Amino acid sequence: MGNRRPLIAGNWKMFKTAPEAADLASRLKSLLHDLTDVDVMVAPAFTALGVVADIVKGSAIHLGGQDLFWEREGAYTGQVSAPMLKAAGCSHVIIGHSERRQYFGETNATANRKMKAALAGGLMPVLCVGESEGEREAGQTFPVVKGQLEGGLNGLDAEGLEQATVAYEPVWAIGTGKTATREQAQEVHQFIRGRIKESFGEGIANALRILYGGSVKSANIAELIAMDDIDGALVGGASLDAESFAAIARNAVRPVKDHS
Ligand code: PGA
Repeated sequence: MGNRRPLIAGNWKMFKTAPEAADLASRLKSLLHDLTDVDVMVAPAFTALGVVADIVKGSAIHLGGQDLFWEREGAYTGQVSAPMLKAAGCSHVIIGHSERRQYFGETNATANRKMKAALAGGLMPVLCVGESEGEREAGQTFPVVKGQLEGGLNGLDAEGLEQATVAYEPVWAIGTGKTATREQAQEVHQFIRGRIKESFGEGIANALRILYGGSVKSANIAELIAMDDIDGALVGGASLDAESFAAIARNAVRPVKDHS
């Protein structure tokens, strides 16, 4: 097992107006002020990035966008670019979330363009992959995840991968209260790390953080993070409440293991 620092990321989706987001961010900042062994990132709506950036500045909480467009600027009504996110205080950006794939026409090819734009713009991308319930039942989990991974990372080099994170989010576990068992998650995480090793080498594969997402709560994070290839979580619903999210971050400290 690599020596990977856990990352707990909150995806606030289309929740929280700017004043509500400011309140949540302030509460998180005070609840997490003494957390040292876990990285924390929150991704508010674009309209709240500015106020949240001001609040988390100087704290250990990192800021992320929920999506971006690959052009730097131009006549693309409604879109936000990597330089805009960067200037708003973001260090991270979520790419290829299943809700983007389901409702907004995101494909592996568009996710790939966004990955490249994020890296070129100095942002750390979090690439989301994961199978639907039907795909799992049809025994397609590994081919689907492999396709999303290869598509999303196409043309990237090891240097780019050093900045990236992968989030495995089985679609059937998102917002449903149905978490994958830690064995189900570990099996796919291990598969993802194996594909990364094949394509980019062992060093990157060992360093890459792979997050699990899908109904993560303070009650299940400890058993997930105890698995060898699970390095944190991308949290939706439970990230909207300061106490729940802070409890997840606190419970995400890896148990000490003897791997000698
Ligand atoms: P959830 O969402 O925690 O509400 O299941 C996870 C996600 O979509 O990132």
